[in-house]
Amino acid sequence: MGLTTRQFHLNAFLMTIGHHEAAWRAPGSSLTASWELAHHVKLAQVAERGTFDSIFFGDGPALQGDVRYRPVGRLDPTTLLPALALVTQHIGLIATASTTYNEPYNLARRFASIDHLSGGRAGWNIVTTAGKEAAENFGLDDVPEHHHRYERASEFVDVCQKLWDSWEDDFLIGDKTKGSFADASKVHRIDHRGRFFKVKGPLNVPPSPQRQPLLVQAGSSEDGRDFAARYAEAVFTAQQTLEDGRSFYRDLKQRITAFGRDATRVKVLPGIVPVLGGTEAEALRREEELASLQIPAYGLSQLSSLLGVEIGEDLLDKPLPELGDVRSVKGHQSRFQVITELARRDQLTVRQLLTRLGGGRGHRTFTGTPEQIASTLQEWFESGAADGFNVMPPLLPSGLEDFVDHVVPILRQRGLFRTEYTGRTLREHYGLTRPQSRYSQSAHSRAS
Ligand SMILES: Cc1cc2nc3c(=O)[nH]c(=O)nc-3n(C[C@H](O)[C@H](O)[C@H](O)COP(=O)(O)O)c2cc1C
Repeated sequence: MGLTTRQFHLNAFLMTIGHHEAAWRAPGSSLTASWELAHHVKLAQVAERGTFDSIFFGDGPALQGDVRYRPVGRLDPTTLLPALALVTQHIGLIATASTTYNEPYNLARRFASIDHLSGGRAGWNIVTTAGKEAAENFGLDDVPEHHHRYERASEFVDVCQKLWDSWEDDFLIGDKTKGSFADASKVHRIDHRGRFFKVKGPLNVPPSPQRQPLLVQAGSSEDGRDFAARYAEAVFTAQQTLEDGRSFYRDLKQRITAFGRDATRVKVLPGIVPVLGGTEAEALRREEELASLQIPAYGLSQLSSLLGVEIGEDLLDKPLPELGDVRSVKGHQSRFQVITELARRDQLTVRQLLTRLGGGRGHRTFTGTPEQIASTLQEWFESGAADGFNVMPPLLPSGLEDFVDHVVPILRQRGLFRTEYTGRTLREHYGLTRPQSRYSQSAHSRAS
């Protein structure tokens, strides 16, 4: 068998009834599917039919966005994933959970449980939660400093990894006659004492099929990149141009190597919003139809929260004002950069900017025929900007069905994407092995 050809990794980023902010107003869109199980079951099964590596649900512990103009409420994804594990067999199940508004013991336990319940398909998108709304739900008046959030996130993941390691695989004795269930010397306290956490351990969930969920990260700032380079196995990012995508990809892979890790084992997945049509004209018409349903008041409130600066109606037909240095941004630093650069580069008025952000909040929109979209993805993949893509359908379920029925077959034909699942666990889909417990490793090195 020759050298295995490098293939895409595809993640379906599923958000209520579609990523486009006006998706709910589109003919045929449901007003209540955002919190209905049947809708999510359908999405998971469509993505699995398309042999996607994984599905992913974002999250934030706050009502984000203006409920007057969009169905912004959503289910807690870590409660949704076990339900979807029951109706799927292969597809990975990734959920966001915050390191700023959780405790490591709870999250380590939750993802280990999801991994057991799904037969090894759990993934965790590690976020520090940038919004002020969330901070106000946890006793704070404002979001903690950007750098501080990432420092806490690093120690948070360290504690989780120690807890996932706290049982060695060969703990079980199971001698009913003697009444001896487990070898206690194989179940370890972690006695973690750090700046943010003091955790005794062990975890109260035995090692799961993957031992640790796939670790995903989605912040592209300086702090975010270093955090990803140290911990992430898959990295989601928003990049507007091929050049931006390539420079982010190069920079991140260098940082991973600098941390002594194998950069080929960390997958970079830029987000794409595919707007499909049988012809290019039809696809453009669909994009315009969705844009015509946008409500400027909603766009302005979302833009203000993404930039961390109030952008008022009076600025709609003016260029985006100068907003200062990205390093002073407490919230979403990389998103601030993507959006201000887009406005500058394309000399957009605020109204035009809102239209461009309507589909994916800064992620790139690809509009065209299935062939055209497949070729653009292939170009990013083959020119060092991506190891795969975070597919963000503007409308759900139809946008995902269209991608699975029309783009995936082309990618398979070109040998760029799997035709069937070969792995059992999410880590295997991403070409990763199951980590060993550090306690059994140290036991081995002590023995040798
Ligand atoms: C694909 C993608 C998905 C994201 N999902 C979430 C999410 O579910 N919850 C959240 O609070 N932030 C989410 N974010 C935002 C990031 O966590 C982060 O706040 C943002 O990218 C800015 O990070 P930075 O300040 O390090 O640049 C997501 C970002 C991307 C690119």
